[in-house]
Amino acid sequence: MSVADPAELLALALDTAREAGRLAAEGQEGIGVLETKSTPTDVVTAMDRASEELIRKRLLSARPGDAVLGEEGGAATGSSGVRWIVDPIDGTVNYLYGRADWAVSIAAELDGEVVAGAVVAPVRGDEYTATRGGGAFCNGAPMRVRPAVPLEMALVATGFGYSTERRARQAEVLRTLLPRVRDIRRAGSAALDLCALARGHHDAYYERGLNAWDWAAATLIAQEAGARVGGLRGRPANPDLVIAAPPGLFEELHDLLEPLKADADTDEVEPPA
Ligand code: IPD
Ligand code: CA
Ligand code: CA
Ligand code: CA
Repeated sequence: MSVADPAELLALALDTAREAGRLAAEGQEGIGVLETKSTPTDVVTAMDRASEELIRKRLLSARPGDAVLGEEGGAATGSSGVRWIVDPIDGTVNYLYGRADWAVSIAAELDGEVVAGAVVAPVRGDEYTATRGGGAFCNGAPMRVRPAVPLEMALVATGFGYSTERRARQAEVLRTLLPRVRDIRRAGSAALDLCALARGHHDAYYERGLNAWDWAAATLIAQEAGARVGGLRGRPANPDLVIAAPPGLFEELHDLLEPLKADADTDEVEPPA
């Protein structure tokens, strides 16, 4: 067992996310594509890199023994039992287009469990925070998810990966879901989708194909605001599928997504047990 205080980890996460958010916000105007990754639309800007570099340096100068996992490759190993999970800009496509819905996301994992998370959206002026067991906050005010509504009355947020094959499958799932819900939202940042759920700005969220950096901090925030977050068939949330909603609605959405194989890229693929 490691000794680290979740409140102190949160304070460091929040300070660091604020600083990186300021840097990225100042550099947003006129930003271009530096490189592409898995597909021509899966882009990286110079600011994704600069933000991650700032975060990694700042975290490791405060806590040199910690490990870091960052989307842009800013990895470090450590022996303290603390691992930081970092998305330096979640919502890069929004960032590239001069839109406001992007955020810096930093989670602190202690002995394998996320205990603190900060998601900072500087252009919106929103700072979301949580510690495990300590509640979830937006700009210091406590947040609560909306009470569960029947699925047909639910505003459901989702997102899509960069691979065109996966998107074809995601479109099929969406085709079945759309007539059965109030409406769909696609904001372009998984971290902010989960924080918006925590804040009551929609009723539920699901997405296939995320990585730990997209959802580590915001999942804790959503859970602390009262959401149930998980995968299919009792599995924990995982890259195959993250479903988040208040209890009651979670089960309804789960039961619709399960037979659709929403955690698989094709109909033929048997999802893992
Ligand atoms: C993406 C965003 C988007 C989600 C994608 C993610 P990035 O992260 O969170 O909303 O739909 O699956 O990859 O690349 O902007 O950090
Ligand atoms: Ca991301
Ligand atoms: Ca990112
Ligand atoms: Ca990315």
